[in-house]
Amino acid sequence: MYLIISLLLILVGAGVLCAVKWQAWFVNQPEQDYVVAQRPNNIVLTMGQDAQHQRIVSWRADTAISRSCLRLVHAGHLDTVNIAADSALIYSQAGVAAYYQARLDNLQEGQYSYQCVSGDRQSEWHNFRISDLDTTTLLFFGDIEDKKGTPSRLMMQKALSRNANVDAVCYTGNILEHPMDKYWQVWQRSLEGKQSIVPQIAVAGSNEYRKGLMRKIDNRWTHVFGIPQNAPYRFLGTSTYFIDFPTARLIMLDTHALNFLSDYTIMQTWLSRLLISDPDKWKIVIMHQPVHYAATGRYHPALYLAFHEVLKDADLVFSGSDHNYVRRQEMPQYIILNSSDRNLEIRKDINQDPLVACYDEKMKGYCSVSLTYDSLHLYTYDIVHDRIIDQLSLGR
Ligand SMILES: [Fe+2]
Repeated sequence: MYLIISLLLILVGAGVLCAVKWQAWFVNQPEQDYVVAQRPNNIVLTMGQDAQHQRIVSWRADTAISRSCLRLVHAGHLDTVNIAADSALIYSQAGVAAYYQARLDNLQEGQYSYQCVSGDRQSEWHNFRISDLDTTTLLFFGDIEDKKGTPSRLMMQKALSRNANVDAVCYTGNILEHPMDKYWQVWQRSLEGKQSIVPQIAVAGSNEYRKGLMRKIDNRWTHVFGIPQNAPYRFLGTSTYFIDFPTARLIMLDTHALNFLSDYTIMQTWLSRLLISDPDKWKIVIMHQPVHYAATGRYHPALYLAFHEVLKDADLVFSGSDHNYVRRQEMPQYIILNSSDRNLEIRKDINQDPLVACYDEKMKGYCSVSLTYDSLHLYTYDIVHDRIIDQLSLGR
């Protein structure tokens, strides 16, 4: 009898929770109509698994697939190399676009110029540099979620002008307000073309997933961000992957791709192997939802149970989602970042936690991390008050 009453109470509770959260969990906002230019546009530079020798260039052009390639010139060399591009016709709620990706391997140090060609139209020329990466500087951004474009454009201007020699820009997810073309364009415009020069390294957040009984990553994501296909089979097509720099390994965990118990086990095993191997590299993990939550009511027990033990072999773990700034002083250093105008209240008991080294409820900004083989320096900038709010140096 007690069992039946308990089951009934659980069912009623689940029903009430679903009713209250219906909009937030299951309803997607309708996408507005959009037009795709015929000339190659939305050009984004990313890295392959080998940061020293591989780049991937993505673009879109028109609404039908045409023969496409990337023209590549290595400065000081006379030859122009044509690299065939993979193509895909991607439908979203309100439109269609042809997307292309060219994978560049065996790159050597120096300056490269490239042009994206689709059919009889081509982009302007863009440049990127391949350096030895013995010293690597990375910028990290938390949730951006800009509705209009001006705040994120000003933030990116500040961050990128102060860090002109940055080797890559990294995102902890929720770059977009919603998974629709309008917000993809807000993000593209915010970078003012830097996304075709400086490699972009991203993991998806909840805002890049379409809601439903089973969430699904926006089908533009892997066509905007060319990524190395080195995730376990179960996570191919999500934003789970890793990139090796000479000094560091960056591991991106797509926490929204975790649906079943077996998903947690597969990702945990994969992560553990990547953290333990290559012991000379710094290990940096990027995941949208934090293992140690900071905002009131954001505890994610499954994430905590699955990953907090395995992550002890990492050096830095970056997350977003909680819209404030917290760094926990332990191994690894857990860092929660915010790069949007929206802040969430930090849980009341955070200052009783001896492991918390720094927190800031109103933080909006970014982190810069400089790495050599034996040193790691982190600075956290608050762009609203124009000041450094946290810094950390690690050596070995
Ligand atoms: Fe967010």
